Amino acid sequence: MCGIVGYVGDSKSLEVLLGGLKRLEYRGYDSAGVAVLDADGHMATRKRAGKLQVLVDDLTDRPIANGATGIGHTRWATHGGPTDRNAHPHLGDDGKLALIHNGIIENFSELKQELLDSGATFTSETDTEVAALLVGREYDETHDLTESLRRVVARLKGAFTLLVMHEDQPGVVVGARRNSPLVIGLGDGENFLGSDVAAFVEFTRRAVAIGQDQIVTIRTDSVVVTDFDGNPVETEEFEIAWDASASDKGGWSSFMAKEISEEPEAVANTLLGRVHDGIVTLKELEPIGDDVLAGIDRIVLIACGTAAYAGMLGKYAIEQWSRIPVDVELSHEFRYRNPIINERTLVISISQSGETMDTLMAVKYAMEHNARVLSVCNTQGATIPRESHAVVYTHAGPEVAVASTKAFVAQVTALYLIGLHLARVRETLTDAEIRANVAELQAVPDKIAEVLRVSQAEIGQLAHWMTDTQSVLFLGRNVGYPVALEGALKLKELAYIHAEGFAAGELKHGPIALIEPGQVVIVVVPSPRDPDSLHPKVVSNIQEIRARGARVIAIAEKGDASVLPFADEVIPIPLAGHLFEPFLAVVPLHIFGMELASAKGLDVDQPRNLAKSVTVE
Ligand code: F6R
Repeated sequence: MCGIVGYVGDSKSLEVLLGGLKRLEYRGYDSAGVAVLDADGHMATRKRAGKLQVLVDDLTDRPIANGATGIGHTRWATHGGPTDRNAHPHLGDDGKLALIHNGIIENFSELKQELLDSGATFTSETDTEVAALLVGREYDETHDLTESLRRVVARLKGAFTLLVMHEDQPGVVVGARRNSPLVIGLGDGENFLGSDVAAFVEFTRRAVAIGQDQIVTIRTDSVVVTDFDGNPVETEEFEIAWDASASDKGGWSSFMAKEISEEPEAVANTLLGRVHDGIVTLKELEPIGDDVLAGIDRIVLIACGTAAYAGMLGKYAIEQWSRIPVDVELSHEFRYRNPIINERTLVISISQSGETMDTLMAVKYAMEHNARVLSVCNTQGATIPRESHAVVYTHAGPEVAVASTKAFVAQVTALYLIGLHLARVRETLTDAEIRANVAELQAVPDKIAEVLRVSQAEIGQLAHWMTDTQSVLFLGRNVGYPVALEGALKLKELAYIHAEGFAAGELKHGPIALIEPGQVVIVVVPSPRDPDSLHPKVVSNIQEIRARGARVIAIAEKGDASVLPFADEVIPIPLAGHLFEPFLAVVPLHIFGMELASAKGLDVDQPRNLAKSVTVE
């Protein structure tokens, strides 16, 4: 969950590295560092604990020479606290080799002992320094940076992306990856490496994803990719679909504010090109094949965090439309419990980053056990789609704020599209029914835009009154339940307030004991229009908690007068079909989490202890 940048080109390394790190800071932000090789072949490193700005300020006060070769790192600590010494790059014995790392080297203790026995001195508590010392020693023997790294990765266990450079090799950066991301950026007289394309999108839109267990050597005029045994590997270039401005704040106070405002586009862009004459056709599912999909007897959705809540919504829609039983599981729980899956199981992974290690491991497990594996992912060239049979990309654009918002609605959109595709293939819905659901889906962007217009100011005010609140409960039934869970997660991670989401029907089985006078409870109320609506039951739940002194904030369909007598505040949302209400109900909760965190003076883009891309298990 660190961010990595590498560059060879003209003498602007520092600008490239610091610009890239700024865009990658969402991946980790407890320390940062760079190593740059200047024109005289001297390597300078600088690393500082704290956010990237601390490093930038330090480089302004005490500049280092710029150069044509460099590597940069922004860290999320695993081994060793966030200190200057533990920040990357780490150096070889003679200080001539610099190395940065994302991931965890699981066998670092034994390698460290071996190095200590041979007289090495360690300056940090990291697992990374082991790799730096080992590659440095190999280089002293081989004088070949690529070969040195190849020899070392053969000895490493765990997950890693490593980048190295050496004083004696100006114009060369070598990278290796296993279970951690690394992407190449192809420039004109310059080349780049990055944890994701955001690292270099300012300079080039041409990219190449590096596969599992591969090594890449970049020079100004060449890029060579081999496997860990040194065999050449064919690579495929792709064009980055968004430009650099997409990962800028663009005048918003935070990335999160910008990304919430982009929720309508995230849905609209994910629908683009996938609906023809009102019917959903996902070409991306061809590698699995409609005949195979017709024979699937079970679907398992795997994901973590917010993506798992998107999965819970996917379950309601996919089951209803395709009549295939669907389970939703947290990736890490699925992977380590010997689940029953076979070639008639469709496993759908959901991941914004496409790099979440828990989900990646679950995907690999599903592949090994003959399931068909489909990924829903927002990041081109990421690892999880490459490890799957097929991928449906969400087109939410780059999501930089650590807390996921626009990716969530895009994930739900993609899952609904998959549900409608399956319904067509399996003939469980008529064309007219599919068209009616597609029309609902296509109406979602405008309705979200209406929620943003109508509720932003009111929720901002509400949040400002609530800065001293210690605990907030969220209730929802049916599709309102994942929305409640999502609202609670946002509040925890952004505002550091205790928050829990409950299925409203579960309340009387225990949680109602938490209700005391003044307890804030946010309730997602279903529409009263639907004949099968759970509306009366939710209104009864509201009455139960009100009777015990709860302060109720209801998210309810506009015009629903029945909640007014029982709610302290009502946030209205537009009318929508039952399965489409979550798209609208979740938006006020995203705004609420952000506004409450801002009102408490917290950094909404980079909440404490978190990182955007969780690439360790
Ligand atoms: C919460 C949040 C996380 C992610 C989770 C999965 O706001 O962002 O819970 O949803 O870490 O991440 P991806 O989707 O990248 O696999």
